[in-house]
Amino acid sequence: MSLKFDFSGLFHPNLEGGLREEEIEDFEEKVREIVSHIKENPPGFMRLDLEWIESVKELKEWIMNFDSLVVLGIGGSALGNIALHTSLKPLNWNYLSKEERKGFLRVFIVDNVDPDLLSFVLDLVDIRKTVFNVISKSGSTAEAMANYMIARGLLESSGLNPKDHLVFTTDPEKGALRRIAKEEGIRVLNIPPDVGGRFSVLTPVGMLSAFAEGIDIDEIHKGARDAFERSLKASLFENPSAMIAITHYLYLKKGKNISVMMAYSNRLYAWADWYRQLWAESLGKKYDLEGKVVNTGQTPIKALGTTDQHSQIQLYNEGPNDKVITFLVTSRFEREIRIPKVHENVEELGYMAGKYLSELLLAEQRGTEISFLANGRPSMKVMFDEINEYNVGQFVAYYEVATVIMGALLTINPFDQPGVELGKKITYHLMGRKGYEKMDMKEFKKRVVM
Ligand code: PA5
Repeated sequence: MSLKFDFSGLFHPNLEGGLREEEIEDFEEKVREIVSHIKENPPGFMRLDLEWIESVKELKEWIMNFDSLVVLGIGGSALGNIALHTSLKPLNWNYLSKEERKGFLRVFIVDNVDPDLLSFVLDLVDIRKTVFNVISKSGSTAEAMANYMIARGLLESSGLNPKDHLVFTTDPEKGALRRIAKEEGIRVLNIPPDVGGRFSVLTPVGMLSAFAEGIDIDEIHKGARDAFERSLKASLFENPSAMIAITHYLYLKKGKNISVMMAYSNRLYAWADWYRQLWAESLGKKYDLEGKVVNTGQTPIKALGTTDQHSQIQLYNEGPNDKVITFLVTSRFEREIRIPKVHENVEELGYMAGKYLSELLLAEQRGTEISFLANGRPSMKVMFDEINEYNVGQFVAYYEVATVIMGALLTINPFDQPGVELGKKITYHLMGRKGYEKMDMKEFKKRVVM
């Protein structure tokens, strides 16, 4: 049982004009250096501390008293939670009764300040039986904090003690959430200071909501641990992280500015969203490590098969040849449905009668993949023999390391995000935050108001 990678659709002769093995071999030494640097100075997310799991499990008795857990977070403090929930629980999980859920919690993740979204979730849950997991590493992100304040206000106005319904996940020392937790004795989990938001799904950030809905978090860590090990040990052609990074790097240099992740599974689709943030925020940078302006990065796009065959594939096959496509596929679905033997004599329908729905899905995936080869469009495939904790842990780990290797190839810092600061400051100014009163908005307005 493990994740499999098929890179053949990126290479000549399968793909006319595709990469040649020699091009990869030219980078073998460079990648070896990068990998051994990572080995000697592993980024925080690779530690997989036992504490990340144990601190979550310690809350078991308390958490199991509730019926629903609502995550309030955004970006790296929510996307992994959404992907774990969507991929590892049945799609109808939140509609099942407590009995059908074997006592585990419904999980809702609110990662926007859209009042319609928040009210929908708050209307749906019974506040007396709900725990709010406020996740923010900085402890001050406007979106997460606004939603927290609303949830808290609701708890207070319902005559409930907020302390009994809140658990914060935040920096061990810094930030407003940590201060409030200390002052009020609110339960709190640590986000390791050396693990950045988009790399934090394996820390208590992602683990608490997963644990609350009965996901085996030990297995996620096991999968991740095995994948980290392989990412550091294996030779280039057997190291999925290195292969993802180097092939995407070489294609970027050849003008493939876009990386599409196309999941042929609704359960895997949210991982494309998680990847989108990881690849975009980590690699989209103005400056390289020497301070030179490079404006680099590769735009990640998410797509869903077969749905987007009727939306995107025309462009991918015949539009600008500027994309590398990654398929996420599974050969094992939780449920199988056979198309009944009706309309066997209707020419346009009969060929499907008696076949499984998954056969159609996989045939369409294969059809799309071959059409890409025929049109000279590079693609690779990540294959889940089953969508389970172990494989999901591997997926996270391989892509996190791939991002770090890609960052090193691009000679940028994959761990910062200075490009989001200006927008944040302007928001603070517009919302009247102390210390942000003096901003020359006239200068910006001139440029944007028509
Ligand atoms: O990857 C990142 O660092 C960001 O996307 C953050 O996760 C996001 O901005 C939320 O930050 P915080 O956890 O501090 O609220």
